[in-house]
Amino acid sequence: MRSWTVLGAVSLCLLSASDVLAVKTHDFKTCSQSGFCRRGRALASRAQAAANQWKSPYSVDASSVSIASDQAKFTAGVKSSLYPDVKFSLELRVHEDGVVRVRMDEVGGLHKRYDEAASWALIQEPTIHKKVKWTASKKDVRASFGANKEFDIIVAYQPLQVTLLRNGKEQVVLNGKGLLHMEHFRSKAVVMTETEEGEPKPEAAAEDAQQVLAKPEDPKAWFEGETEDGLWEETFGSFTDSKPKGPESLSIDINFPNHGVVYGIPQHATRLALPTTSGENPFFSDPYRLYNADVFEYIASSTMSLYGSIPLLHAHSVDSTVGVFHAVGSETWIDVAHPTEKSTETHWISESGIMDVFLLPGPTPEDVFRQYSRLTGAAVLPAYFSLGYHQCRWNYVSTDDVRTVQKRFDEEDMPVDVFWLDIEYSEDHKYMIWEKKNFPDPVDMINDVAALGRKMVVIVDPHVKRTQDYPVYKEASELEVLVKPKGGSGEYEGWCWSGSSSWIDFFNPTSWDWWISLFKPHKLDNGRWSWIDSTEAVHIWNDMNEPSVFNGPEITMPKDNIHYGGWEHRDVHNINGMLYSNLTSQAVAARSDPPKRPFVLTRAFYAGSQRFGAMWTGDNLGTWEHMAVGIKMVLSNGIAGMTFSGSDVGGFFGNPEPEMLVRWYQVGVFAPFFRAHAHLDTKRREPYLLDEPYKGIVRDILRLRYSMLPIWYTLFRETSVTGIPVLRPQYVVFPKDPNGFDIDDQYYIGTSLLVKPVTSKGATEATVYLGEDQVYYDYFTYKAYRGSSKGKNITVSAELYQVPLFIRGGSILPTRERARRSSSSMKHDPFTLKIALDQQSSSARGELYLDDGESYDHQKGEFVWREFRAEKPNKKTLRITSKDLAAEKPGVAVEGVALAKFDPSNAYAKSLEKENVRVERLVVLGVPGLPKSVKVEGSSEELVWEYIQGVAAGESKKEGYTSILKIKDPKVLVTKDWAITVQL
Ligand code: GLC
Repeated sequence: MRSWTVLGAVSLCLLSASDVLAVKTHDFKTCSQSGFCRRGRALASRAQAAANQWKSPYSVDASSVSIASDQAKFTAGVKSSLYPDVKFSLELRVHEDGVVRVRMDEVGGLHKRYDEAASWALIQEPTIHKKVKWTASKKDVRASFGANKEFDIIVAYQPLQVTLLRNGKEQVVLNGKGLLHMEHFRSKAVVMTETEEGEPKPEAAAEDAQQVLAKPEDPKAWFEGETEDGLWEETFGSFTDSKPKGPESLSIDINFPNHGVVYGIPQHATRLALPTTSGENPFFSDPYRLYNADVFEYIASSTMSLYGSIPLLHAHSVDSTVGVFHAVGSETWIDVAHPTEKSTETHWISESGIMDVFLLPGPTPEDVFRQYSRLTGAAVLPAYFSLGYHQCRWNYVSTDDVRTVQKRFDEEDMPVDVFWLDIEYSEDHKYMIWEKKNFPDPVDMINDVAALGRKMVVIVDPHVKRTQDYPVYKEASELEVLVKPKGGSGEYEGWCWSGSSSWIDFFNPTSWDWWISLFKPHKLDNGRWSWIDSTEAVHIWNDMNEPSVFNGPEITMPKDNIHYGGWEHRDVHNINGMLYSNLTSQAVAARSDPPKRPFVLTRAFYAGSQRFGAMWTGDNLGTWEHMAVGIKMVLSNGIAGMTFSGSDVGGFFGNPEPEMLVRWYQVGVFAPFFRAHAHLDTKRREPYLLDEPYKGIVRDILRLRYSMLPIWYTLFRETSVTGIPVLRPQYVVFPKDPNGFDIDDQYYIGTSLLVKPVTSKGATEATVYLGEDQVYYDYFTYKAYRGSSKGKNITVSAELYQVPLFIRGGSILPTRERARRSSSSMKHDPFTLKIALDQQSSSARGELYLDDGESYDHQKGEFVWREFRAEKPNKKTLRITSKDLAAEKPGVAVEGVALAKFDPSNAYAKSLEKENVRVERLVVLGVPGLPKSVKVEGSSEELVWEYIQGVAAGESKKEGYTSILKIKDPKVLVTKDWAITVQL
């Protein structure tokens, strides 16, 4: 257990096995404890009180409007009537895909505002839409775009307001409420008093100074308030933020007059459809906070910050989805209100940085995903093994412990792909240095795991123990790549697991190659240290990268610490953790030559982190409430790009009773990242330790995951190209069905599977919402349920051994049903196709994507991408086909590569052919009657099949056990085109 001894300003982190503490809300600021948030909210209150009298002081200087010669962007000067001498610049561009970027900065100020957030988040400088023509008039600048010129972007001058419209309807409005405020840099007014001798001296206490500076008669008071509030030095608990540059916050209202629901801005433990934080009777009293933080034992329903921050919001209505991405790296608070059921107002208050807002015009959720991923990149196509089951705990205590755990999994026939090592593997928490007493033979241990086709993931945290006998510290110090304390000289020192520590400044390019070389599993030519006692089978877990600093303000780094380029930590705080997983993933890839796909798990994240690996929801509690909210968090992370995510199965803290543990596995198995983890103080809870019937149930769940790996991997291919998340909330699949907008306890895996995990104790039934007139087949029993075009709830059995999982009519799912010990042993296993016929047309469609799962050869065309279809060309025939998709869609098959030509008999495909990788079974659900014959086209041989009579897909009024046609071993290869004809 982490506990704290507070000695004046210094908190020491200790590991002891006792006292469990609940979240210390007092360790974290509320809005009212943060100067800039307080000011932002006060501004909003004044605006509200002034109602129609309120007018934004910001306006575009019409004489400065300049439209680029190619018409692609326009720039203008902006002024505030309150500070006529302060200059701001405004720039707007429309990207090729219709995304509108709005940038505003202070120009010629005392300092420069941080403007690099986008350069870390974006994959490249977006291409500007060359055909968009801006026209300026006396009152505004505007442009139309879109296939039918359905979008208009209008920048009104007086006051400054930016509006995006579609078909004349307002989609997003910036500064519509007049809350825009970019606090310009200023010099601190020095208040002089007199010494006893009558000499002038500067006022000592900052707080007193504020009192003196209060000027009720100030003409700016209507806008900025009557007193200067927290502009300069600020204290929180025993911590003082020196704020050397003074106030520089940015407030902007972003409103959606025609959208009643908002999603996104993860990470918060709350519902997917974001509850209100302002307006009448707000659900939460504080705004949503984005400030990466290590919140110990977090609350399951709160707007408090958590480990990651993605400033991306979706606003949704029955006829449109739009997105807003604000590329800001500093602490940001966001208020959400619904003035009416059909509209939303949000207010974003950031501590520093420029305004760099991207308006994603949609108009469907899928369009917004595409638009966002074109900016920040799509989730990486993961290494295949990483979609298997991960067994973790704090800690497996020795190399022999790891071997025993592996042995026990195998004895119990439970599949697993990865064994994890938490911090105790390392000597004094000097990561990458093995603790020799308990880990005397690490390479042998890794090889023993790898010999059975498995991997290891080992933790490497970002705090670096400050001791000369730790090569990582010594070299970082020599290279001068450590974060600096305020003032900018020396090395910042704080406390974490390793005691007195420093942090590498990954903003410093000098750290990059060095960090990558540290992970090389062989000796380096330059004589520097590298991790020779590890192998390519080791992948990495990056934890504590918010960064967590036990004796820092809000358990993180002081905001006045200095990074590369002289930027304060305040400017880059939310981006910082992403750089760590970025560099680590490059380091892991570079361990092999040619590089292999790395697996890196991160706790902190920002916009763009999806390019570097997976995340998990941190230190959850072993409670039903946390189990339930974990699902919502994973969905929310997914819509903001971080689709490869999951929660600790079992709950990090506590000892779940068997029922809870089983239910938690049923949650985890349907998350993209599936890992069990447990705190140091918990009892061992590896699934093989369970008694029956629990053990058997969990074994089945693990096997289910492995049978479904082709489905997960195929979906990750799609995600890695389109950015559409692997898990899709109801509103994404049915954007026009308002009944589904609030649903976040059931979701779709891709578009074919609907799951509703059970997250309450003693449950025996579950209610599932079906938002369409379609047949849904129970995944396990094949029972058919019917939805309705108006939406319908069905009640299904959900005993402990059951989890409500349905195949949506119209889908084909490829699975591998042979029980194996790990994913690598399934490489050449045959497939089963589950063909769920659609209610209206008795047809179905599905895909299968396969590659070697570990190299980057897929980017050179080494893969197999198939489309399966079931169709009824006439009443008497059902035709099931397999077709090559890659040849049909060259260039969109895999991430980042435009393959001009695809060779269906590439070396990878040939290797599958050689191993005779085939479809060994087809299960057709909802067949409309007893077949007369089933044959592979081109062959006269009757296949072996079995028909079980039941309800057919098209019998739309009937529920119950469905009719099933099982076709056995048609001997068709997955790499080849083929057709099977069922004569009815
Ligand atoms: C943090 C992590 C947790 C890990 C522990 C020790 O609390 O969130 O997963 O086990 O540190 O490394």
